[in-house]
Amino acid sequence: MENAKDFVIRGNVYHTPHLGAAEAKEYAYIVCIDGKCRGIFEELPKEYRELPKKDYKDALIVPGMVDLHLHAPQFAFRGTGMDSELLTWLKERTFPEEEKYADPDYARLAYGMFALRMRRSATTRAVIFATVHKEATIILMELMESTGLISYVGKVNMDRDAPPALQEKTALISTYDTIDWIDDIRNHHHFKRTYPIITPRFIPCCSNTLLDYLGEVRRLYDLPVQSHLSENPEEMKLVASLMPDAAFYGDGYDRYGLFGGEARTIMAHCIYSPEDEVERMRERGVWIAHCPNSNMNLASGIAPVRRYLDKKMRIGLGSDVAGGQTVSIFRAVTDAVQVSKLYWRYLDHEAEPLTFAEAFYLATRGGGSFFGNVGSFEEGYDFDAVVIDDTWSLHPQPMSVSERVERAFYLGLDRKGLVAKYAAGAKLSLEGDDDE
Ligand code: GUN
Ligand code: FE
Repeated sequence: MENAKDFVIRGNVYHTPHLGAAEAKEYAYIVCIDGKCRGIFEELPKEYRELPKKDYKDALIVPGMVDLHLHAPQFAFRGTGMDSELLTWLKERTFPEEEKYADPDYARLAYGMFALRMRRSATTRAVIFATVHKEATIILMELMESTGLISYVGKVNMDRDAPPALQEKTALISTYDTIDWIDDIRNHHHFKRTYPIITPRFIPCCSNTLLDYLGEVRRLYDLPVQSHLSENPEEMKLVASLMPDAAFYGDGYDRYGLFGGEARTIMAHCIYSPEDEVERMRERGVWIAHCPNSNMNLASGIAPVRRYLDKKMRIGLGSDVAGGQTVSIFRAVTDAVQVSKLYWRYLDHEAEPLTFAEAFYLATRGGGSFFGNVGSFEEGYDFDAVVIDDTWSLHPQPMSVSERVERAFYLGLDRKGLVAKYAAGAKLSLEGDDDE
């Protein structure tokens, strides 16, 4: 990580300061002072002329991508076992893999591969599930810290309906382990870019007692929350039978203080949320992590994103690896556009498909708002940027900056085209070999 605090970069800039309103500037300057953006300039103002400059020439510069939801332990089996629905997939694929993270050596190996891929992705911010294991979760946090990305990582809680090796013995043990994990981070680690987040897996795996205790821990330590919500029809039925007195799925979190308000909360999926759940999320300011790739792979369904945008709700994108097959948020953006078109075509003609600029907003400023002023090059925003060289990808006709950005996303140029990445003003290393 290079730590020049004040500098200028130059290239073809694209961002979405407002939903649906993209701003593109050919060969412009972006100024970073003390980790924050001072804005985009066609001509560099006098006061910045002496600052160090990096000229990215004809490359594209966009804000760093934000992944609001993914599972680090599942990276190991990405792209396999995609022929079942959620509950079978959890039992047959996910839980057997997650059991392995009881072994710190396995965790170091597998999380090392995950961290390398994250480092070499266009993602600058991520909100991550680990497993129930304390030690492995700390290993993951150390590795994420070393990437320079800014992330939240959660030790998962689950005290029911899982294989014995993965299930925590009681709600109290799960809670004490969580407290130990938080205390360990506070007392023995000095993470600057990696934060804990309370992570009940989902209601089928968490007893009411556990949710109650986690609500207390959350309050005590003032931490954010992440979980899953209304993802799959069978899961919805299961939750209704497990918590018959909850008004709706999300009410099962809300009654324990794990659903927005004081608790900054991300709920992944929200495909089948009934109107009263949507209204509660809106009131409580819950962030929705829309994960279109996962939703296709697990045949979960399509989230009604237009409805959420019309209600001005908080929403970003997640890769949901390994329900999603790739950590690429470029892919999540194009998937979000594509599934919104199917939703409009097959399900609801009133729900206008997302434009590219809208999906781009979700991947940057939408999800970025969970981290503060993140996801755009407006003045005062954290300086998160990725530089994509698309000049080697041939086209015979002239193209605007906006067209080039859209094409880079659809063609997946975050792989071969990624040339630089900055998070909160620090230039991150892209060094290392990986297999993809
Ligand atoms: N619901 C509970 N656990 C999981 C998980 O690991 N992935 C997804 N997609 N949904 C879940
Ligand atoms: Fe998930």
